[in-house]
Amino acid sequence: MPEVVTTVAELRQAIARLRPARIGMVPTMGALHAGHVSLVTAAREQCDHVVVSIFVNPTQFAPNEDFDAYPRTLEADLARLGEMAAIVFAPTAREMYPDGFATTITVGGPSAGLETDFRPHFFAGVATVVAKLLLAASPDIAVFGEKDYQQLLVVRRLARDLALPARIIGAPTLREPDGLALSSRNAYLSPPQRQIAGRLNVILKEAIIRARQGNLWAAEDAATRALLDSGFDSVDYVAIRDAESLAEIHDRRRPMRILAAAKIGKTRLIDNMAV
Ligand code: PAF
Repeated sequence: MPEVVTTVAELRQAIARLRPARIGMVPTMGALHAGHVSLVTAAREQCDHVVVSIFVNPTQFAPNEDFDAYPRTLEADLARLGEMAAIVFAPTAREMYPDGFATTITVGGPSAGLETDFRPHFFAGVATVVAKLLLAASPDIAVFGEKDYQQLLVVRRLARDLALPARIIGAPTLREPDGLALSSRNAYLSPPQRQIAGRLNVILKEAIIRARQGNLWAAEDAATRALLDSGFDSVDYVAIRDAESLAEIHDRRRPMRILAAAKIGKTRLIDNMAV
């Protein structure tokens, strides 16, 4: 079982005891599933020891979002990690945001649009907590899932701009047999909703074929309609963007990425793929 530490001071001491070994970090909000395990595995491939942080970060949730409902399963998470992680950092909100906390990091560039149009608070919350986690642990690498593709690009930008002490590694999305991207929020879906959710990745693949054949906007539009026809209650966006900057496409020879967010009932699902 990993050593569990709850303060930044304990985390630094625990990591110092492991040095000079190479340390990888996997920041998470817990409710660990096979997707998180694959991030830990990716970190282990490049490092001697892995630190997993488990912290449901309040600043990346808006008041109307699922902060209270977000699953908190520390004991099961520790059991799942077993020997794969040397240290779990599970701080309290007070440890991460001490009284009088007054610092927020705002990242520009890839945070513009998409998630920000619908969750304007989100990337400032993520950037602030990720900067704190990386500064606390100073790992050699930190692994983030491509499932949250815009987040991955924002974290890369953040780490470069602030020269944070970690190389940022993106790891591929893990999927269920029907292609649904693994996510802690899939647990909110009822069986009929879960069936509908499985259509998201299929519709994105169809949109990729359409996009390669012709008009990008028509591909996005057809995918939006297909999601609504499949039973999604609303579609926040389906967008084909530059894979490195998330800017609108001006040059189709550059790598492109299709990204989508849609809701079934109260559950908001996101997914993305290379075009
Ligand atoms: O992707 C997540 O689980 C979270 O956004 C992160 C990166 C752990 C920050 O709270």
